Amino acid sequence: MKGVIPIGGRGTRMRPITLSTNKHFIPIANKLLIEYPIETVVSAGITDIAITYNPGQLEFAKAFLGDGSKWGARFTYVLQENPKGLANIFEVCEDFVNGDQFVFHLGDNIFTEGIKPLVDYFVKEKPKGLVSIVHHKENTRMGVPYFDEKGRLYKYVEKPKDPPHDFAIPGLYFFDSIVFECFKGKDQIQPSPRGEYEISAPYQWLIDHKYQVDTMEIKGKWLDPGKFDDWLATNKYLLDLMKETRMESQPDSTSKIKGQIQVGKNTKITNSTIQGPVIIGDNVTITNSTIRPHTSIYHNCTIEKTSIENSVLMEKVSLKNLIKPVHNSIIGTEASIHNHEPSTHLSLFVSELSHIEL
Ligand code: G1P
Repeated sequence: MKGVIPIGGRGTRMRPITLSTNKHFIPIANKLLIEYPIETVVSAGITDIAITYNPGQLEFAKAFLGDGSKWGARFTYVLQENPKGLANIFEVCEDFVNGDQFVFHLGDNIFTEGIKPLVDYFVKEKPKGLVSIVHHKENTRMGVPYFDEKGRLYKYVEKPKDPPHDFAIPGLYFFDSIVFECFKGKDQIQPSPRGEYEISAPYQWLIDHKYQVDTMEIKGKWLDPGKFDDWLATNKYLLDLMKETRMESQPDSTSKIKGQIQVGKNTKITNSTIQGPVIIGDNVTITNSTIRPHTSIYHNCTIEKTSIENSVLMEKVSLKNLIKPVHNSIIGTEASIHNHEPSTHLSLFVSELSHIEL
């Protein structure tokens, strides 16, 4: 069985960070978002994985992900020339799939309990398609499965106004390679009114051609961080799941540590308080500061005389002498916020679409 994980898209709802960083490469609980699906697919036993990308994305994807050996996997990079919808993402992987079964795991979905039961079922029972489902209150903005009186899937509807139940379809799809027939011939699938080859279309094609398509509920929490609030909520959720304290560097004797925390290599914590759950990367310097719960600090950040809570700092962020505590913030790579005392004015060098609340 093979895997397909996309890193394409423009990430418009995460601007301005995504003006310079592909959404899948933004950290969340100090792991890049894309690392979650990779780990999930690999830990279900699938190591032959296509990473699909849009033009202009190959270089940095390769620089971060390499050949997959870091995860014990083998990556094949496949170009999706035009972003024409989710079904088009796996359509371009036909040669890679090469007659096998495959799982298509969106690059921005996180399944906290993994996907192994679904993979095992799919490999054993060999339906032509398998749709994962979850209970979700806001399923009007998602794909929704419709079941007949025998409980069999007969329709997959995108974003219905009036769904009959609270099941939704997350970004985890399983197909037999017969599905590639849906892109060929007279009755091939057509783009939706928004001009995209929706993921519902190949499933509907399989159902309409009397192929077996099963559904299976996925256990655990499904996280789908797409915009600012969701990003912080997902970061908080993942930090709350942290089970162990892991210290690769020790704070000095004047610092206080409470709760679960993880600290990377060569990190210096001096005269500061850290209240977990908090995760701090490598080569971070924290001096005379308070790091409060649900904060993720990525590698090479510097924090001085600052209090911070429920926030995500990307790489090389520098915060100094901030008079008010920083709450609920996402701060992009190499951004610096310094307060020079006595301060009489603000001096800003801010990109378009930034949000600053003072
Ligand atoms: C896509 C799919 C939808 C699915 C969702 C899960 O929607 O079209 O069926 O429920 O992903 O994340 P989109 O996020 O593109 O609106």
